[in-house]
Amino acid sequence: MAMKRRDLLKKMGLAGVAVAAGCGDDDDTMALDAGMDGAMPELDAATDMGPIDMGPPEPTGPFRHGIASGDPLSDSVLLWTHITTDAASADVDWVVATDPAMSDVVAMGSTTTDANRDFTVKVDVTGLDPATTYYYRFSGEGTMSRVGRTRTAPTGGVDRLRFAVMSCSSFDHGYFHAYRHVSERADIDAVLHLGDYIYEYGPGEYGGVREADPPGEIVTLEDYRRRYAQYRRDGDLQAAHQQHPFIVVWDDHETANNSYRDGAENHDADEGSWEERKAAAFQAYIEWMPIRETETPLQIWRSLQYGDLVELLMLDTRIWGRDEEATQETRTDPERELLGADQEAWLVDRLENGTAQWKILGQQVMFGHFENEADGMPGVYRPINLDQWDGYAAARSRMLDVFETVDDVIVLTGDIHSSWVMDLTPVPHTDGYDPATGDGSVAVEFVTSAVTSPGIVGPIGDTLATIAMEQNSHIHYVNLGQRGYFILDLTADRAQADYFLLDGVQVDEGAQEWAVSYEVPTGVPHASATSGPLPMPGDAPELAPDPPPRPL
Ligand SMILES: [Fe+2]
Repeated sequence: MAMKRRDLLKKMGLAGVAVAAGCGDDDDTMALDAGMDGAMPELDAATDMGPIDMGPPEPTGPFRHGIASGDPLSDSVLLWTHITTDAASADVDWVVATDPAMSDVVAMGSTTTDANRDFTVKVDVTGLDPATTYYYRFSGEGTMSRVGRTRTAPTGGVDRLRFAVMSCSSFDHGYFHAYRHVSERADIDAVLHLGDYIYEYGPGEYGGVREADPPGEIVTLEDYRRRYAQYRRDGDLQAAHQQHPFIVVWDDHETANNSYRDGAENHDADEGSWEERKAAAFQAYIEWMPIRETETPLQIWRSLQYGDLVELLMLDTRIWGRDEEATQETRTDPERELLGADQEAWLVDRLENGTAQWKILGQQVMFGHFENEADGMPGVYRPINLDQWDGYAAARSRMLDVFETVDDVIVLTGDIHSSWVMDLTPVPHTDGYDPATGDGSVAVEFVTSAVTSPGIVGPIGDTLATIAMEQNSHIHYVNLGQRGYFILDLTADRAQADYFLLDGVQVDEGAQEWAVSYEVPTGVPHASATSGPLPMPGDAPELAPDPPPRPL
C-alpha cells in the first residue's frame, strides 16, 4: 500500500493544511512513492501546466543514444554504447586513450551486437592503471561516437575522493538540468545514481512537461527497452554519462512503483506475471545501464573498492529480498526482511571485515527514523512512511547494532525527492541521543534530492520540513521543495556533503545554488553544518570535448 498525500499531512499534524491545499477524496490514486512521489498533485500541476513542449529535434546517427561508462575498478572500467542500424547485427570498435584527442591509445578492440541485447554494447576494458582518467570512443556503421571520459578507482593510500550523488529523474516532470551541471564538473570520481533512473508510467500519468515513450505504462521487455532509449536520447543525461563513470542501483520505478520481491503497488494481475515483469525490467536494465553483469539474475548489490579510503556498498532494498510493505501493527515483526538474509549477511561481513576507512552504503529508501508523536500520547512516536526502513524495524535494528561496532559508516539515500541530513541513532526521542554532540549516534545519513521528480514545494513543504525536524531531533536538515543533488567529498579526516539545489526543472529554469554543507569528522558519527561548497581543484583532468546539445 502506497502512502497517500492526505495521510502524510494528517500524520504530520497538518490535517487543516490538507483541507486548505484542496486535498479531496480524489487524491486516493496518488501514491506517495516512498514518501514523496505523487505528492501534491495540485502543486505539481502548477508547474506542469501548458502544452507539452516537444523540444528540438532528437539526436540522429548510429550513436544517437550516447556513450557511458561505469563500475570502475582499479584496473578496469565498463564502457557502454548502443548502435542504431537496419542490419541484423553490427560490429562496433572501441578505443581507449589517455588524452581527449585520442592520440595516446592504450587499449582497443572490437565486438558485435544484435537484437538479442537490443543492439547495446558493453566492453569491460582491463589492464588499465589505477586512479587514472581515460578517454574512449566507439566506431561502427561508418561513423564515430563522441569521445567519453572515465576514471578508474585508486589503490592503496588515497588523499581525496569526490562523488556526485543523484536519484529520481522523471523525464515527464521536466528537464535534466542537474545532470548537465554535474557534467560540467571535472573533479568527480564517479556519479552514484541511487535509482529511479527511469519511471514506468505512461504519458500524463506522472508529470506533464515532456511525454513518455512508449505511450503507455511499460510492462514488457520491449517497453522497458524503449523507455531507456528515450531517456538516453536526452542530451543532458548523455552529457553526464559522457564525462563521468556511473555506479548505479535501481529503485522501484525501474520495475514499478513501490515494488518488492513478490509484487508492486503499480503491478496488476492483468499486466501478467510479476516474475516475468521483473525479469524483463532486469534484462533491459542490464542491457542499457553501465553496470557489470553478474552470474545471478536480479542481483545488483555489489561492492566497489576505492583504495584504503572508501568501500562503496551498493544495495538493493527493493527487489532482491524485500517483503511487502507493513502496517503499523506488523512493522516490528522480526521476520520481515528488507535486504533478504543473504544480502544482509554479505553487508554485515563487508562492514565488519572491510579494510577501507569509510563504509559508504548506496541505497534507496530512507534509513533513519522519521516519526511523529502520536495524538494524545506524549512520548509515543510512530513512523510516517512504512515504505522506508521505518517499516522494517527489526532489519534496521540489526544494522544499527552493526553500525555501533564499525567506525565511519555513511548511508546515502535517494527515492524521496528531497534533501535530508540526519544522525542515525537506535534511541531517537530519548536522553540516549544528544543532538548537539551526536552522542548516541552510530552513523550519518545523507539523502539526495531528485533530478526532476516532484517534492513538496512552497509553504506546505517548508512547514512539513520544520515539523519533521522539530519532531525528530536527530534530523538536522530537510528541504522538500527543491530538486538537485549533492557532492560527497571524502578525506582521511572527514566526509562532507555539499548540497546544490535548483530553482526549478522547467525549460527556462535550472539555475543551481549551493544550499548547505554538512561535515562528519572521522570517528564521530555526527553531522554538523559547515561552510561550503568545497572549491574545485585546479588540476582536474580535462573534460571530454563536444558535449551533446541541450534538449531545450
Ligand atoms: Fe523517485
